[in-house]
Amino acid sequence: MTDWLKNSVFYQIYPQSFYDTNSDGIGDLLGITLKLDYIKDLGCNAIWINPIYDSPFLDAGYDVRDYKKIAPRYGTMDDFEHLLSEAHKRDMKILMDLVPGHTSDTHEWFQAAKNAYPTEFDDRYIFTDCVWEAPTDYRLMCGICERDGNYLVNYFSSQPALNYGFYKVTHPAWQKSSDSPEAWATVDALKDIMRFWLDKGIDGFRVDMADSLVKNDDEKIATAKIWRNMREMLDRDYPNAVMISEWSNPQRAIVNAGFHGDFYLDHHGNGYNSLFRKKIGDDNQSFFADHSHGDIEEFLADYFLGYNCSKDHGYICFITNNHDMPRAPFYMSDWMIRLSHAFMMTMPGVPFIYYGDEIGMRYRTDLISKEGGFSRTGSRTPMQWNSEKNAGFSDSDEDMLYLPIDRSEDAPTVEKQQGDPDSIYENLKALIALRKANPSLSNDSEIEVVYGKSHEFPFVYRRGEFTAFFNPSDNDAQVDYDMSGAENVYTLGGYESGDGFVKILPRSFLLIRQ
Ligand code: NOJ
Repeated sequence: MTDWLKNSVFYQIYPQSFYDTNSDGIGDLLGITLKLDYIKDLGCNAIWINPIYDSPFLDAGYDVRDYKKIAPRYGTMDDFEHLLSEAHKRDMKILMDLVPGHTSDTHEWFQAAKNAYPTEFDDRYIFTDCVWEAPTDYRLMCGICERDGNYLVNYFSSQPALNYGFYKVTHPAWQKSSDSPEAWATVDALKDIMRFWLDKGIDGFRVDMADSLVKNDDEKIATAKIWRNMREMLDRDYPNAVMISEWSNPQRAIVNAGFHGDFYLDHHGNGYNSLFRKKIGDDNQSFFADHSHGDIEEFLADYFLGYNCSKDHGYICFITNNHDMPRAPFYMSDWMIRLSHAFMMTMPGVPFIYYGDEIGMRYRTDLISKEGGFSRTGSRTPMQWNSEKNAGFSDSDEDMLYLPIDRSEDAPTVEKQQGDPDSIYENLKALIALRKANPSLSNDSEIEVVYGKSHEFPFVYRRGEFTAFFNPSDNDAQVDYDMSGAENVYTLGGYESGDGFVKILPRSFLLIRQ
């Protein structure tokens, strides 16, 4: 029933920076509603919105104070329901961001649990049994509440870990087993939150730190058991809804835990990193880099490990970027970004486009941290729509803006790029259209590598009747290939072909149908 995923292309919205309709300098839900046609016109038919729940915003909303309340700065529940119904009218899907591993320390469960007196939420978090018990193998906050014990945090200090128990119990005095009723009471509380939003009609969740639930669970066996249980609930009661994990381990996330999709994230040494983000000092060793001398085998070895085991169960999700890492222009030129988009739009799996990446918005290194962003802040700046006040993002005074606008002369905007056939925007739009019009390029059609050798170019793969050739290097790259009957479907740069060979010119991409 979740067939819709098979032909979907997602757009990720960081809501505070997308479009502000009430002039307070912060994006809002009505802003997203008003831009649905823009997103649809780009070719995306699904949206993931970063957390919009009530929060003190010490981690930009990943510190949830109330899972069932919309943060007032984004609008009201009516605004949310309006957004959902307008999206559905356009046949677009909406994923919310589920933060299952931790809450804000201002959440009412934690406010109760940290008190000296007993409450019904005492086992909702993980406290040691006395304040002098502080084993150094856990990230603990010590001696800062009235309750006689220290508590585990999942991420920042303001984000106490929810208690899903321990797979291996090493301190029985205070650790509950992952099979204990206390651990499963947390699972039930999470299900209640999921049902709350699914009953409103949302189409699923992007799941934050999905692997972080059960502690002392190195193989993630007990964590997978919980997600399987969630998946059963979805299959039974919400068969159109999906869960996409922030995990980056298709075997564990898709095969073992039952996620419909898993993000391919930029992790040191993995395939995504070797394609787009592998910079050692000043030496960019990524495959998609200007003057590329990258090694495609690093990607192939890692990717196919995950792809082969998970392809019959779910999707690996390629991302142009997200709110946690530097945007692509920090690593590559606009031209190379276009090649990288050609790659992502012709690969299996579900592509996710981070807002602003469709115009090549830049990563800012000159900003001070905002809401726990630190180095991530530079990828979270306001969307650049046009040449009007505040790049069309907001009508507010400049000093009220959530983050500064890129005011450089050559700052990319939607207005500048729409209609310009040489723009990142039009390039990406055309590629999305191609993908959506051709089942062989869709998310679940197979891939076969035709040519992919260590430190050699081009990289060539086939998807059904299509063959894609990539040469990001500065030199011609020739490969034996019979081009007879081939129709050129899309080119960036150039190529030459002759009897039994094709030569891809430097910094070029070619897509043929044969
Ligand atoms: C991953 C999210 O993407 C990130 O932004 C957040 O800070 C952490 N999880 C903690 O929830």
